[in-house]
Amino acid sequence: MTLSPRTPVRPLPRPRSSDAPPVAVYVHWPYCARICPYCDFNVVRDRGQGEQQALLAGAILADLQGHRSLTGPRRLVSVYLGGGTPSLLPPEWAEAIIGMATNLWPTDGPVEVTLEANPTDAEAGRFAAFAAAGVNRLSLGLQALDEEALRFLGRNHTVKEGVRAAMIARAAFPRLSLDLIYARPGQTPWAWAAELEAATSLGAEHISPYQLTIEDGTAFGRAVRRGQWTPPDPDTAAAMFATTQEVLTARGFEAYEVSNHARGEGARSRHNLAYWRGHDYVGVGPGAHGRLTLNGVRTAVRAAARPADYLREVRESELGWAEREALSERQAAEERLLMGLRTLEGVALAELRPLGLERGSPKLAELGEAGLIRLDDGRLIATADGRLVLDRVTLELTTAGGG
Ligand SMILES: C[S@@+](CC[C@H](N)C(=O)[O-])C[C@H]1O[C@@H](n2cnc3c(N)ncnc32)[C@H](O)[C@@H]1O
Ligand code: SF4
Repeated sequence: MTLSPRTPVRPLPRPRSSDAPPVAVYVHWPYCARICPYCDFNVVRDRGQGEQQALLAGAILADLQGHRSLTGPRRLVSVYLGGGTPSLLPPEWAEAIIGMATNLWPTDGPVEVTLEANPTDAEAGRFAAFAAAGVNRLSLGLQALDEEALRFLGRNHTVKEGVRAAMIARAAFPRLSLDLIYARPGQTPWAWAAELEAATSLGAEHISPYQLTIEDGTAFGRAVRRGQWTPPDPDTAAAMFATTQEVLTARGFEAYEVSNHARGEGARSRHNLAYWRGHDYVGVGPGAHGRLTLNGVRTAVRAAARPADYLREVRESELGWAEREALSERQAAEERLLMGLRTLEGVALAELRPLGLERGSPKLAELGEAGLIRLDDGRLIATADGRLVLDRVTLELTTAGGG
């Protein structure tokens, strides 16, 4: 329809929050009681910097308000308090952050509110207070159910404390997820199967087993470089990945993403699904990443990593951003491919046009014949074999079309 001078012009209805794309909120709390030798997240040793921590919590609230001015009234689906160790937050600060997010962005249903927690007795003792503060899903960093492994991983809790924390969490929160780390040196697939089975009996609805990654710049990275120990070879690690799938499938946990298994659809992490589906998310707190559609352009943002720099950024600009990059259509499509292929639901082929990929593309046919991908109702999905070699599959697809 073209507008002629006689066409009555009516104002467009104001978008309702439910029409706008949903938004998730990630809050990064960087402090940890001690720094684990494998971890390369943006973390700071907690030395009781009370005043700076109070300022940081205040800056996070201001940053949320700054983001709300940019996003408008979007439907809030999830708040995720991650870290670092957000279970070290005073519960009343967590309540203020959750309350700010849920007041700023309207909701039209229950919002998933996740807290990452370390399983020490001290933290488990505050789970009820976190539940009262609005947390309804706990992600517990169990990491291992083996004393020697916990010592090797530099953890500050025992197996008994971990199990106790899981029991307390199960009673305090409607939803519980457990993080575990496997492919530790000397670990056999059989020992891992037994440990994983024990974890499935702790009453969690969601389990995230991560393969130990040796990161540069960590104590483990230095130890491996010096030859102090070697991680399992790729074949053993692959066998442990296969063990993970077998044990968890047999126990009713579906691998809805490469490292995330849930007992039924309702148990899936709505927050992580927002990442994998390419939805917008706000990231606040030191070093937090965000993805926002600003004036129709997918934009990657990252907050200043050091707490002092983050405080300064928020003071000066009402946003903690240190970096902001408008993604090209190709970059955004690459990200969609990378994220989508990790999941059972895959990614809509229509979203991959900027990569030169469409039905009938020779590369899709080639990888399909190799049994690594399949097309289902216009969606591109990695098969179980494809998920084993996902780096190769995504590399081949991103370089296929020339785009
Ligand atoms: C950022 S940590 C926060 C959780 C919490 N502070 C804790 O340690 O329990 C999130 C999860 O990432 C996993 N993780 C961190 N570094 C890892 C590494 N190098 N290899 C494998 N998993 C890792 C751990 O399972 C951890 O629970
Ligand atoms: S694994 Fe958790 S507790 Fe350990 S340093 Fe990383 S964020 Fe902190």
